[in-house]
Amino acid sequence: MQKRPTGLPETNAKRAVVREMFDRIAPRYDLVNRIITAGMDQQWRRRLLKGAELRPDDCLVDVACGTGDLLLIARQSGANCLGVDLSRAMLGCAFCRDDSLNLISGDAANLPVADKVASIVTCGFALRNFVSLPSVWSEFSRVLRAGGKLAILEVDRPKNTLIRWFHSLYFDGIVPALGGVISDREAYRYLPRSTKYLPGSRELFRQLHQAGFTDIHREVLFLGSAQLIYARKV
Ligand SMILES: C[S@@+](CC[C@H](N)C(=O)[O-])C[C@H]1O[C@@H](n2cnc3c(N)ncnc32)[C@H](O)[C@@H]1O
Repeated sequence: MQKRPTGLPETNAKRAVVREMFDRIAPRYDLVNRIITAGMDQQWRRRLLKGAELRPDDCLVDVACGTGDLLLIARQSGANCLGVDLSRAMLGCAFCRDDSLNLISGDAANLPVADKVASIVTCGFALRNFVSLPSVWSEFSRVLRAGGKLAILEVDRPKNTLIRWFHSLYFDGIVPALGGVISDREAYRYLPRSTKYLPGSRELFRQLHQAGFTDIHREVLFLGSAQLIYARKV
């Protein structure tokens, strides 16, 4: 297995490790999320979708939809929604929550979706898991219509030194411990380490711009521990 100095898997090894990990943690994924964020994860998803200004005539593709949290909220707007995910166990949990959800198994870098069908692409807490972000941006751009919106929710690390210290205490120490007790130790050790895969916002914006996005902006959530990123396809 090819490794970075951080010990995190890369390329095809990463894809397999990530899929197996989410297959393993799927049954308790929602429970752990609610506990480690004290329920804020759902508020952040609602905020993401509010910022995307969903309308009933929208066609939304939620990439890496997991157990369907974003889809279930997005559907309340009347929009036509489709969820895509690599992990069949995560999709299975989404289906168990609501068997009328439109779900399909697939890779973010090779979406099983036709060109220009989506007016909105969303992606929640998944960027860190992709093998190559530029390949994913170009897929998002391919499936979006001109003028279509991209709305991303992702974890982040606070910039302020003191807040960052307390955040690290929680995110790098308590979260893996809690996740280990409730679900799977390895997976919740991977969670804080996987932030190393995330480029800084300047590089992220550069990549999005290169992939044909404009109006790129970012909103910081909860003292910098999460972020929303919005962009529009040219
Ligand atoms: C942290 S979960 C987020 C799930 C959901 N979006 C949410 O808001 O809770 C990350 C999801 O990304 C999916 N995933 C990881 N790599 C993927 C890929 N290459 N293509 C599609 N889905 C992927 C995983 O299976 C998992 O369901």
